[in-house]
Amino acid sequence: MLRTDYCGELGVGDVGREVVVSGWVDRRREHGDHLAFIDLRDRSGVVQCVVDERHDLRSEYVVRICGKVRPRPEGTVNPNLLTGEIEVGDCTVEVLSTAEPLPFPLHARTEVDENVRLRYRYVDLRTERLQHNLELRAKVNSAIRKAMEAQRFTEIETPMLVASTPEGARDFVVPARLHPGHFYALPQSPQIFKQLCMVGGIDRYYQIARCLRDEDLRADRQFEFMQLDVEASFVGQDEIMVFISEAVGAAVAAVTGTVPPEPIYMSWTEAMERYGSDKPDVRFGLELVELTGLFADTTAKVFQVECVKGINYTGGSKSLGRNAIDELTRKCQQWGAKGLAWFRVGDDGALEGALTKFMSVQEQAALGLAMDAKPGDLLLLIADSRRKARAILGLLRLELGRPPINEGGLNFVWVTDFPLFEAIDDQGHPVAAHHPFTMPHLDDVALLDGAAEELLAVRSQAYDLVLNGWELGSGSVRIHRMDIQRAVFRALGISDEEAEQRFGFLLDAFRYGAPPHAGFAFGIDRLVAILAGEENIREVIAFPKTQSGADPLSNSPTVISDRHLDELGLRIKFADSARRLEL
Ligand code: AMO
Repeated sequence: MLRTDYCGELGVGDVGREVVVSGWVDRRREHGDHLAFIDLRDRSGVVQCVVDERHDLRSEYVVRICGKVRPRPEGTVNPNLLTGEIEVGDCTVEVLSTAEPLPFPLHARTEVDENVRLRYRYVDLRTERLQHNLELRAKVNSAIRKAMEAQRFTEIETPMLVASTPEGARDFVVPARLHPGHFYALPQSPQIFKQLCMVGGIDRYYQIARCLRDEDLRADRQFEFMQLDVEASFVGQDEIMVFISEAVGAAVAAVTGTVPPEPIYMSWTEAMERYGSDKPDVRFGLELVELTGLFADTTAKVFQVECVKGINYTGGSKSLGRNAIDELTRKCQQWGAKGLAWFRVGDDGALEGALTKFMSVQEQAALGLAMDAKPGDLLLLIADSRRKARAILGLLRLELGRPPINEGGLNFVWVTDFPLFEAIDDQGHPVAAHHPFTMPHLDDVALLDGAAEELLAVRSQAYDLVLNGWELGSGSVRIHRMDIQRAVFRALGISDEEAEQRFGFLLDAFRYGAPPHAGFAFGIDRLVAILAGEENIREVIAFPKTQSGADPLSNSPTVISDRHLDELGLRIKFADSARRLEL
């Protein structure tokens, strides 16, 4: 037998038992010629085994040890170890597999290079950190499944080889061998198929769905990621929020043992005005203060703009020197600001700064009052269009105050009433804030035929769930009426022909009886990362890609042979020598 027990689960209750444990040699300490202490590791933890035969055991050898559990001698109990009160004695050891020295130590105190970790991911997976994170991830998935099933959702798998999807990122495409010159897209989300399920009477659909998007990778983005994807018929925003809160709550409870605190509800406008972001991190203050009215009659040119807002960086005058403020100014300029106006609050409460000479005494006093300025504070102001002032201060706020992801508890915020369109593109067309199937507020439907600027005022029935400043998920009530869908396509500059070509099958389906429906999807990688206290979702994915989108372990992406290309009817336009070499 290879195992009677897991290493980390042995305890005083097992004293006297003959056990068989198998695993990796974690650490090994020699005592004289014949005695060795071996920490044997498996998924559950480590146990100390005392071996007094002669063996050439090295780190990471895979061994099977038979022995008898006994209490550790007086004074050698290790309170830091779950199995620290016992050890396995009278051991016989069998080497099951030898191991070369690892490319990096498992107990490294310093960060191991990302590329090396991913090149040897199977070694990295042995670390306590990844073992823990992947266990946690599995618990989250399982809790989500149970919660969705309890709410009468049916798990449905949607295809991976599809036509282009409407999420707005770049598609990964797959050449269709049987249809030369044609390509499948890999799904950016199951969006259209889940809506088709609603037309198909599925009523409540869910899937833990793999999604693929060819976009630049960041800490919270991978090419491939997992969503809890949900759609339900005959419900609206409120019901969807309950379904999702149940699933997220169950996931949190499965990991932490307690249900998360009640979420906060906030409109998009409020989030933008107070936090300068549609994903407000409410773990800390430094809220944006509205100052436009205060400068209504100002003679200071910088403040004669659409919007002036500011942040009181409490105590900042003491902690930030001139160089640090210049650095913040540079950052704001990189984010698109013309400059950063700043004032120190002196010991007497008076404002000090280059701009005071352009401001009346009343203006200075009103500014101090509005920002609740105390001696030692630093007031940071942006004067610009409302859109830019909010966005830049939102970034500045994070720069000044954002705590590490694992601090401040779990702060869920539902952001509602998103605008239907987020911007106007170069061709004068609005850009959908969510996707083109999002239902506008019924009161705003008439505005859909308005001018581009008017369109920006159209509210939508879209909502996001935010956790500690990360966008966890998005959803919306969908358009199930053809007339409204056509008006939205028109506003987006999507012609009837294009709509027909891209989404014709969905529009066709709607002609045969579409129930009102709504849905949501949240990123499982992001939820797990936050629950695991990780800043990068890579740490909760078994086999992620590097920042440049490569997998140094399996060596993907790779070139393919000319024969394979021929079969697919493809020719490489920029066939370079590197490709030849690889082939
Ligand atoms: P959306 O595009 O907002 O909505 O995606 C939903 C959630 O998926 C996660 N996510 C990602 N996670 C990791 N890496 C990525 N590259 C990545 N892109 C997105 C985020 C995000 O909030 N079909 C709609 C949902 C709906 O309307 O029902 C959709 O996919 O956590």
